[in-house]
Amino acid sequence: MTGEEIDHLLEKLDLRQKVRLLTGASNWRTHAEPAIGLRALTLSDGPAGVRGEAWDERDTSLVLPSPTALAAAWDEELATELGGLLAAEARRKGVDVLLAPTLNLHRSPLGGRHFECFSEDPLLTGRTGAALVRGVQAGGVAATPKHFVANDAETDRLTVDVRVDERTLREVYLAPFEAAVEAGAWAVMSAYNQVNGVTMAAGPLLDRPLKSEWDFDGLVVSDWGAVRSLLDTARSAQDLAMPGPESPWAGGLLAAVEAGLVPVERIDDKVRRLLRLAARVGALGDPRPVGRPAASPSARRGLLRRAVAAGTVLLRNDGDLLPLDPARLRSVAVIGAHATAVRIQGGGSAEVFPASVVTPLDGITEALDGRAEVTYSPGLAPSGLPRPLDRTWTRDPRSGEPGVLVRLLDSAGAELHAEHRLSGRIVEPARVAGARTVEIRALIRPERTGLWTLSVGGWGPMSLSVDGRTLLTGTFPLDSDDPTRVHVAPPYRSIRAELTAGQEVEVVARRGLDPGTGIATLLAAAPPEGDAATALAAAVAAARDADAAVVVVGTTEESESEGRDRDTLALPGGQDELVRAVVLANPRTVVIVNAGGPVTLPWHTQVPALLLAWFPGQEAGHGLADVLFGRAEPGGRLPTTWAAAREDVPVLRTRPEHGRLPYVEGPHIGYRAWLRSAAAPAYWFGHGLGYTSWSYEAMDAPDTVTAGEPFEVRIRLRNTGGRRGREVVQLYLAGPGAAAERPVRRLVGYAAVSADPGEEAVAVVQVDGRAPAHWSAERHRWETEPGDLVLLGGRSAGDLPVGATVRLSDSGTALTRGDHGERSPLML
Ligand code: BGC
Repeated sequence: MTGEEIDHLLEKLDLRQKVRLLTGASNWRTHAEPAIGLRALTLSDGPAGVRGEAWDERDTSLVLPSPTALAAAWDEELATELGGLLAAEARRKGVDVLLAPTLNLHRSPLGGRHFECFSEDPLLTGRTGAALVRGVQAGGVAATPKHFVANDAETDRLTVDVRVDERTLREVYLAPFEAAVEAGAWAVMSAYNQVNGVTMAAGPLLDRPLKSEWDFDGLVVSDWGAVRSLLDTARSAQDLAMPGPESPWAGGLLAAVEAGLVPVERIDDKVRRLLRLAARVGALGDPRPVGRPAASPSARRGLLRRAVAAGTVLLRNDGDLLPLDPARLRSVAVIGAHATAVRIQGGGSAEVFPASVVTPLDGITEALDGRAEVTYSPGLAPSGLPRPLDRTWTRDPRSGEPGVLVRLLDSAGAELHAEHRLSGRIVEPARVAGARTVEIRALIRPERTGLWTLSVGGWGPMSLSVDGRTLLTGTFPLDSDDPTRVHVAPPYRSIRAELTAGQEVEVVARRGLDPGTGIATLLAAAPPEGDAATALAAAVAAARDADAAVVVVGTTEESESEGRDRDTLALPGGQDELVRAVVLANPRTVVIVNAGGPVTLPWHTQVPALLLAWFPGQEAGHGLADVLFGRAEPGGRLPTTWAAAREDVPVLRTRPEHGRLPYVEGPHIGYRAWLRSAAAPAYWFGHGLGYTSWSYEAMDAPDTVTAGEPFEVRIRLRNTGGRRGREVVQLYLAGPGAAAERPVRRLVGYAAVSADPGEEAVAVVQVDGRAPAHWSAERHRWETEPGDLVLLGGRSAGDLPVGATVRLSDSGTALTRGDHGERSPLML
């Protein structure tokens, strides 16, 4: 649809109609406007799968590996393919706008949404994000890079004032968004937080650089509930307030425009952008079908499986323990709770419901089927946290079916509605007029005798009873306005009850639907703590008796979720002890880490083989078995530096002081910070082994390059190992000059190569013309200092065997893409 056609439609709307379009009609939809053929747009999370409009475990979605895993693949083609899969999922679920990718950075490893962001590096984040945007949008669905900008931690995220200097913003935090906009993103989500004293939904950055400088012609949608005031947000470049129907704009914008407090032109611009987005996703007028036909279900699962192997990082492989040769194995001991209760995704708005999950134990068992004996030993339970009831261990007391019974009651306690559900976590009960209470009822058959923890989750009046005895009752007032804490993951109130193995009990949780307390209700339970020493001894015995042991360790729901930062990097609940004991019992031990972001692994130098699987999505077990048994190479390279100890981490703080979180480190985050620190990390950004070895032979770079002009660097390397492999060749730049405080070096390009044993490969790395430039905060533009460029190539930020020095010619201009200032020569 042309600009003129959109203007023509705009003219047909009066002010009231226009303003109405600018707040959501519901949690996930915008308003329709039949007068101009506009249907409602549906928006949905999120980065690792498309949930759709319902938060309902029966409405399942394909679950991709976490964005950290996707970035670890350093593979834009794969990101685009997965974007296509997300688009197909979105279309299947009637979603027009996907609220992804998350382009905030791994500033501190404590960041609670680390798993949902790509990397500590702006280039890798931008390139991966841009590739995903292209894939999603090729399927006719809008991508929404978020959260613009500096929402790199969760503590006090609704209000925190991030203090960050202009240069750091441009070079580090804005850069990935710029790449996504350049890739053609149709929407951008503004963040909750403030930057330098202004809340993002009213912030000047939405205008410049986003709209006026980068020529973003899409829609700025707010984060959920981020439009909290009227005039400043309405006058800003914020376009759509979500969710609705209530918002400060729905309440007062019409009157404010009529009173002349907000210019009509601002409103027209917002509506024009909404209409443009609607036209792009086929929601306006007479849309033509967009996108490609969806792949078959098995092809989709195949892609997810491939993505698991592509993102899995082999951190160490002493004596080439991996890959394990199935033909030479008689028995494998699989150990650890995560081998069966694998965490496939992180918590919060990104969460979706899988139809099925292949656990690491499933994957290994299937791969070794009939060839080797597989034993399983859970070891120590890493968390005593109750988990929502699910159909694997509870029954609906009415139908007897696996799952629970959910009833909605009126104020007299009479049943208005009843339905069978598969989980004790009811985020959105059915909407039934007159409902005052949600009840979850289930029969539990305990597998162990002892003191069970039983919990009800939610806000407001709640009770919990066991076999008709009320054991907990009380009113729990809301203590937060963070949507995740209110609606998605409210706290549990727990009691302990003695239950007997095999003796079924009926558990009932009730929660009064008091206004302003959200609607989520949970019924959860945790078994009595087992005897740690016995569990450990069983794991050790299993390891000792097997040809090889595979231990899966990881984080739990207590950490790695939206809405809160982590307070520790340690693996919970005795898992360190478990690994140490198993390695002592069997030197042929492979450890798999199942975590969305960095954890400390105090035993890492003592284990021969260490794999990092991230949150691998629903095909976890298949992809990991492919890697373990050599059907696929572990393709991952770290997108973020991993510390040996928390004390070493150069940028850690996520907790604001007096409401402010100063980014005192400037542009030096991640490996840039580690390169200036006295401590060495456990594993550098970029590190990751394959199943072959490489020798880097030479770098061919031009003698001279011109400021502002892209250039090409060729790195020659040879496969010196025994099998075909893929290597991610990375190029870092130091300099030019020192007037601007430079990172020691920064990633400026990368390219993957594949070669057979003995074969030479040439990685052709394209370097953006702006790579040598820095942002001048004095002149508000990109400038390039004179001097030599030092280029270093290799396999990680800490292992760069080849290099070249390149002269930066003064014949170009200092100005590069994105600079709308006056043209001037190179700053010499
Ligand atoms: C999150 C966003 C998400 C939105 C809608 C917010 O709390 O920060 O990332 O897209 O909720 O679920």
